[in-house]
Amino acid sequence: MTAPVFLVSCSPRRGGNSDFAVSLMRRSMKVPCVTRRIADEGVRPCVSCGQCFVRPGTCSLDAPGDGAKALFDGMSSAPVSVLVSPVYFYHVPAQAKAWIDRAQRFWACGDKPGQGRTVTAVLFGARLRGEKLFEGAERTLRYMAMALGMTWTEPLRLYGLDGPRDLENSAEACARIVSFAESLAERAVS
Ligand SMILES: Cc1cc2nc3c(=O)[nH]c(=O)nc-3n(C[C@H](O)[C@H](O)[C@H](O)COP(=O)(O)O)c2cc1C
Repeated sequence: MTAPVFLVSCSPRRGGNSDFAVSLMRRSMKVPCVTRRIADEGVRPCVSCGQCFVRPGTCSLDAPGDGAKALFDGMSSAPVSVLVSPVYFYHVPAQAKAWIDRAQRFWACGDKPGQGRTVTAVLFGARLRGEKLFEGAERTLRYMAMALGMTWTEPLRLYGLDGPRDLENSAEACARIVSFAESLAERAVS
């Protein structure tokens, strides 16, 4: 049976804010969740070989040990997916961007495996303010959702989280994540 929620930590920093946010969300949701860390999935970056245009829906990089397809499968089958990511130079970290680029196979063939599914994000950065801090990451995530046929919904944006335990030590940020997670859990099982 597919778990109703798919949670993905997009940071390469093990045990940092993204990993903590994923575990906090999992605990708060009280519904079955599958969790993954993109940096542990061996996702190789797109090399623009063109195979996905010639053999629709395939990718020449799919191979044992490369987790890109499994991540897309997980996201396309769960009613709700949440990508938890720090901002790196106004975008997602390279490991996450490498995975997103592998969605080119869906764009190329027009298959929409995530139709009827919802995806959103928890995004944060070290900066204390800046209305454009999340713009790059959000635009890319929204476009990936579109390629998979998924519905993108408003993410949670948090400022001022830098050190690996900053989230854990911020009662206010934790409360916002818990309430975001609770509302997503309701949506996932409704
Ligand atoms: C390479 C790199 C680039 C970063 N770029 C930004 C940035 O553009 N804006 C920002 O606010 N924080 C930036 N940060 C800070 C991270 O977003 C912040 O430390 C975050 O809390 C890390 O999350 P994690 O603990 O899950 O890895 C950057 C950090 C790194 C390592």
